[in-house]
Amino acid sequence: MDALDMGDKLEKILLTREQLDAKLDEMAAAIDAEYEGEEILLVGVLNGAVMVMADLARKIHTPCHMDWMAVSSYGSGTKSSGVVRILKDLGTDITDKHVLIVEDIIDSGLTLSWLISNLESRGPASIEIATMLRKPDAVKVEIDVAFVGFDIPNEFVVGYGLDYAGDYRNLPFVGTLASHVYAN
Ligand code: IMP
Ligand code: MG
Repeated sequence: MDALDMGDKLEKILLTREQLDAKLDEMAAAIDAEYEGEEILLVGVLNGAVMVMADLARKIHTPCHMDWMAVSSYGSGTKSSGVVRILKDLGTDITDKHVLIVEDIIDSGLTLSWLISNLESRGPASIEIATMLRKPDAVKVEIDVAFVGFDIPNEFVVGYGLDYAGDYRNLPFVGTLASHVYAN
């Protein structure tokens, strides 16, 4: 899927695939430096983090395993419900592992702070977070995010894993939708 497929539903491209790719190179280098001599368990948060996980994991040289969790915090619209539920749990025992949570975006941070306390109770050696995008509200919650791609304005974005009601996850860039898309 690309910008042409979107027609008048695309308002603007916020981050091109080249910008995303270059940023992932930087993030992978920072991760390799941080975890030198260790092994990492990458935990991708489904569904949004699939693209970041796939691309970031291939740029990391540190030995790593990959696992996935699915949690629900958003309905089909653009507002957080504030309620987090585990839809799919890890298949891995994370005791004594260096866990790196891989996220597409941190908005209110509700999902992540819940996830961190849940994972912390399982006795990992460490937990850090890598997120491609972060919105301004995220600074209000007390979460230390070790690896951030881009701080973006408080707009609803789609693409590169992020959806609006299930659509647009497979866009190779991050963009905003025209307002008429939300109107109906
Ligand atoms: P938070 O709990 O508010 O930090 O956000 C949790 C989840 O909401 C993220 O992992 C995304 O899946 C989704 N989300 C937040 N902001 C956006 C957005 O702008 N576009 C698409 N999904 C979003
Ligand atoms: Mg997510």
